[in-house]
Amino acid sequence: MTAEPGTRVLSADDKAIEAAARCLTAGGLVAFPTETVYGLGADAGNGEAIARLYAAKGRPAFNPLIAHVADLDAARAAGVFTDAAEKLAKAFWPGPLTLVVTKRADCRIADLALAGLDTIAVRVPAHPVARALLAAFRGPIVAPSANRSGHVSPTSAAHVLADLRGRIDLIVDAGACKVGVESTIVSCAGEPTLLRPGGLPREAIERALGRPLTIGPTDEEAPPAPGMLASHYAPKALLRLDTDGAEPGEALLAFGHAPNFSGPMLNLSPRGDLIEAAANLFSHLRTLDASGAKRIAVMKVPHDGLGEAINDRLSRAAAPRQGKSVNE
Ligand code: TXA
Ligand code: MG
Repeated sequence: MTAEPGTRVLSADDKAIEAAARCLTAGGLVAFPTETVYGLGADAGNGEAIARLYAAKGRPAFNPLIAHVADLDAARAAGVFTDAAEKLAKAFWPGPLTLVVTKRADCRIADLALAGLDTIAVRVPAHPVARALLAAFRGPIVAPSANRSGHVSPTSAAHVLADLRGRIDLIVDAGACKVGVESTIVSCAGEPTLLRPGGLPREAIERALGRPLTIGPTDEEAPPAPGMLASHYAPKALLRLDTDGAEPGEALLAFGHAPNFSGPMLNLSPRGDLIEAAANLFSHLRTLDASGAKRIAVMKVPHDGLGEAINDRLSRAAAPRQGKSVNE
């Protein structure tokens, strides 16, 4: 893969991880793989680097960022872990779960990354490259998904390059992300509440807690996770959801057994597997969007397991575009 001057792409090995850690220490911006999607990392303690990160993404507003940390101890240094938070961290970290907890007074994360909230979102990622980078950097790394504001999240280094070429210092390339949708966000600042469905199914979290999660408000005036406005994740093409097939002129995003269709078509999972579908979601949306079709017809995806996160992202991608929306 070639990049324009300004953005280096290195395949993930020890040298690349060392270079990435040095770059973060110097205040640079590094895209790196996690098991969910690629993140755009900055030193969590460096306000200037974080300001550059918002600028690189083209964010219209400062949404709070997830602090990626090496382990539960590092997470406890940033926020107050209730019994429920401890239970979930022990059950699912490292992994695709972000916990929102009350910020500690002595938390070293720059205020800009927290957007003025008194809570902080933390996660211990499972991807070996993310873990190696956290170990080499020896501190928390704030990282939103490594896409331009309003675009779908990147699940490969090529997606990151397409969005952020020339705007960031380095991309560590480790191939496609396994999970393919962002982490599930649960707030444990009060009653455990699901703020964003994601790569860890809600059912698994409820089993670990021994009780159902409260579901965060869906009111668009006060989005539960501040970056979750309806028109998030928008491709250029319009989306038509819950279809059985596509009309002429559309592209088809199929799931399971697909009807015959002569236009652009990709299948999230021909065998109807929701894990495979999540892994393919953003990459297939990007490819069909690039086909030039004005509209993408999306076949019905069941709502259980990872289907909840897939349907959440699809309905956001299908929502009417808001000129002034605050996208990630
Ligand atoms: O899988 C993921 O979570 C990826 C990878 C890179 O870790 N990251 C990611 O970050 O999706 P981002 O910035 O695209 O989405 C983070 C979400 C946003 O909706 C933000 O508003 C929410 O987390 N968030 C961050 N801090 C929060 C807080 N204190 N309270 C509520 N929501 C918060
Ligand atoms: Mg994002």
